[in-house]
Amino acid sequence: MPPHSPHSAMTHPARWPRLLLILAACLALGLLAAIHHWRVRAMVEQQVQTAVRHAAVDSRLTPKPPLGFNDWNAVHCNVSEALIQQTAAAMVTNGLRAAGYRYVIVDDCWSAPSRDARGNLVADPDRFPHGLRALGAYIHSLGLKFGLYADVGTTTCGSYPGSFGHERDDAATFASWGVDYLKVDWCHVPYALFPDYTPDEVAQVLYARMSASLRATRRPMVFSVSNASDPSIHPWVWGRSVSDLWRTTPDIADTWTSILVNADENLQHGSVAGPGHWNDPDMLEVGNGGMTPAEDQAHFSLWSIMAAPLILGTDVRFMRRSVSHIVTNREVIAIDQDPLGIQAAIVFRHGDGEVLTKPLANGDRAVLLLNRGAPQLTLTVRAEQVGMARAPGYVWSNLWTHTTRISMGSISESVPPRSSVLLRVRATVSQKRTT
Ligand code: GLA
Repeated sequence: MPPHSPHSAMTHPARWPRLLLILAACLALGLLAAIHHWRVRAMVEQQVQTAVRHAAVDSRLTPKPPLGFNDWNAVHCNVSEALIQQTAAAMVTNGLRAAGYRYVIVDDCWSAPSRDARGNLVADPDRFPHGLRALGAYIHSLGLKFGLYADVGTTTCGSYPGSFGHERDDAATFASWGVDYLKVDWCHVPYALFPDYTPDEVAQVLYARMSASLRATRRPMVFSVSNASDPSIHPWVWGRSVSDLWRTTPDIADTWTSILVNADENLQHGSVAGPGHWNDPDMLEVGNGGMTPAEDQAHFSLWSIMAAPLILGTDVRFMRRSVSHIVTNREVIAIDQDPLGIQAAIVFRHGDGEVLTKPLANGDRAVLLLNRGAPQLTLTVRAEQVGMARAPGYVWSNLWTHTTRISMGSISESVPPRSSVLLRVRATVSQKRTT
C-alpha cells in the first residue's frame, strides 16, 4: 500500500493506543521480572550468608601454616596403603617429622568406584586392603596426623564418589577413620541444581555445608578448600569463615613458569592470610626433578616467605640429600612458621628482579631477592625499604649459605638466573659507652 493512501492516514491514529498498551505491558513485565530477580537474588544472598554463618571454623587448628606431605604431585592416582605407610615411616627416620612436618595426606583415588550398600564411602580394597581407619591409626602411632581428600561435587576430579548430598554421613565417616585434615576439591559440581546462584555462591554454600558437617562430628579436622578448577571462585574473600586454608591458584606444575604464576597470584591476596586462615598456592614440587636445585630452593623460599602451607609433593621415601637439605632447613621453615603469620609483600619489581619482605614476630624481617629470568642480576635493597626501623647497622643473615653480612643500611647481592637469596635482617643495637 502506498504510504500516502487515504486509508493509511485514517488508520494511523487508531494504532497509537494499541502500541501504548503493548509498551505498558512490556514495561510491566520487565518490572515484574526485575522485582522477581531482585527477590531471588536477595533470597540467594541470604541463604549463602546463613550457610556461611553456620559453618564457622575453629581457627585454633592452624595457628601456623600446616606442614606435611600429600601424594598427588609425586604419584597422582598410584596411591596405596603401602606407599602411605612407608612415607609416614620415612618421615620419622629422615628428619621430616623432627623438622615439623605433621600431616600425611592421601589425595584422590583412594576410594572404591562406588559407595557401599548403605551409601557409605569405602576405601578401594585393593589399594588399601586394611582400610583407612587402620591406616589412620598407623599414622597416629608415629606421632603424625592423617589427611584425606574429598570433593563437594557429585564425583571427585578423578571420578570417584563425591560428597554432594552426603556431607553429614561422609564427615562422620572421616571422623570415625581418625582423619585430622580434609582437602576438599571442586569437581563435577551440580550447578544445574542452583539455577540462580553464581559459581562463587554455589562454592560458598557447598563448602559451608561441608564445614558445618565436619564441625558436627566434634572431631577437630583442618579444612582445606581446594577450588583450583574454577577461576570464578574467590575463596580468599569468604574462605576464612568456613575453612582453615584455600587455594588461590591453578594446579601447580613442576616448572619455573608455574612457580612464578602461582606465586604472583597468591601474592595478590596477602592481606587475608594470618593465624588460622591461610592462602594456599598449592603443594610443593621441590624434589620432583623438573626444576634445577636453585629453582627448587627459590620455590621453597617463596612459599616460606608467603606463609604458605608447606605440603611436600615429592616421594619422601627416596629423598635425595640435596632435596632434604632444602625442605628441612630450620631457619627457612621458621620464616614460614613465624607466629605473626603475615604473608610477604612485594617491595619492588624491576624487570626480572623482585624483592619481597615479611615482618617477623621478633622485629626482624625476612627478605627474598628473586631473579625471575635468565641474566645474572645484582639486587640492592635498603633496610628501610623492607620496613626496618632506623638503627646504627643491620645484620643480614643468608638462610641458605648460613653466612652473615653487616651493613649500615643496604645490601647488594648477585643473584644467578632463576634463583633467589633469602635473608633475615635484624637491627644492631647501639653499644652503650662506659666512661
Ligand atoms: C585437582 C586438585 C589436585 C588434585 C587432583 C586430584 O586437580 O587441584 O591438587 O587433588 O584434583 O584429582
